[in-house]
Amino acid sequence: MAISKVKSIKGEIKVPGDKSISHRGVMFGAISNGITELTGFLDGADCRSTIGCFKAMGIDISQDNDYVIIHGKGLHGLTAPKDMLDVGNSGTTTRLISGILSGQDFVSTLNGDESIQKRPMGRIITPLTEMGANISSIKNNGCAPLKIGGAPLKAIHYNSPVASAQVKSCVLLAGLYADGITSVTEPVVSRNHTELMLSGFGANITTKGLTASIESNPILNGQKIEVPGDISSAAYFIVAGLICPNSDLLIKNVNTNPTRAGIIKIAQDMGANLELLNERIVSGEPVADIHVKTSDLQGCEVSGDIIPALIDEIPVIAVMAACAKGQTTIKDAAELKVKESDRIATVCENLKNMGCDITPTEDGMIINGGNELHGARIKTYKDHRIAMSFAIAGLVANGETCFDDEGCCRISYPDFFKTIGAIVNR
Ligand code: S3P
Repeated sequence: MAISKVKSIKGEIKVPGDKSISHRGVMFGAISNGITELTGFLDGADCRSTIGCFKAMGIDISQDNDYVIIHGKGLHGLTAPKDMLDVGNSGTTTRLISGILSGQDFVSTLNGDESIQKRPMGRIITPLTEMGANISSIKNNGCAPLKIGGAPLKAIHYNSPVASAQVKSCVLLAGLYADGITSVTEPVVSRNHTELMLSGFGANITTKGLTASIESNPILNGQKIEVPGDISSAAYFIVAGLICPNSDLLIKNVNTNPTRAGIIKIAQDMGANLELLNERIVSGEPVADIHVKTSDLQGCEVSGDIIPALIDEIPVIAVMAACAKGQTTIKDAAELKVKESDRIATVCENLKNMGCDITPTEDGMIINGGNELHGARIKTYKDHRIAMSFAIAGLVANGETCFDDEGCCRISYPDFFKTIGAIVNR
């Protein structure tokens, strides 16, 4: 696959279903009573890993592209998997399922690919152990493979040192099986899909400021959920529409939950011609159509409480900053180092290779925008968000941009290059 400069971007697109919401729909459906029906499900490798894990624990799940039916067996209906659960590349699967597995009366093991085996699991091992779970890193390095033995769980109040929805969700899910009210306080609010969706299934979850609390042993009932488009996938096209010349793009049906929509605020701060249309609530989540046009962008500071609301979009925000005038500073984002790749390093290496003036820092990067970009061979490190962000940079670069392995897009957006093909004019 090679990408080259475009004359314009025009059209109307829909991006695939939200990854976070798709994972949760399968998980919560599996531990609820009766049928859960998901439309708009993200048929990507990560969410397939979640489906595979629950099938391996006796849950009947049928899938036809973005339509999924889960025959839930209730809170205590999972059965012991015969083999090691395979979480693939998915951090969300690993961390959320660990909370559920901690409450089961069987022992399970889980493992994933090379990247997952390097990602920190101490952040869930610590609170789950405090709750009484028997969870350990098999290689004793704080990473997967993990062994989880069910044990009676104590309700705890956990002060999380990181703003992580995966940690928060893991503890809340274990809290379903605990002996009272479990709560988690975060330093900054992270995405709240678990709180919204699980209460729709019947859990008693409350949120007060930075603290989410859950009552144990609820009766959960299957739901019909319309999964909205993923703002993390829309982000590539938001940026494409803003940085490519003569562009006018409508991205329909995107989740705009404020705990996810940081990129909209930052794009607007940078001077983007961006509007939200047809704002509505779908299955408890805010949704809108996003209209973008070519814009003169100015650098800005990206830091503080907004970081968790745009953490997955920072690679493409860096591309946007490279095309803006002036300096953009990204701070307070050290979490980037423990994503599918070390995204501070991988973003800086690739943008530098395209001619951008960019310097990595301990918790982010400094970008002096405005240099003309030139094509390069992108080192993706098998990180889907790196491949897609740099495909967008390639749309404004002189010469060709190619990839060592663009196949990693299948993790969250299998048809990404098809969508690009449908809207570009060369
Ligand atoms: C996710 C939470 C975030 C995000 C990831 C999906 C989720 O991770 O980066 O892509 O679905 O809960 P952290 O919780 O590690 O910040």
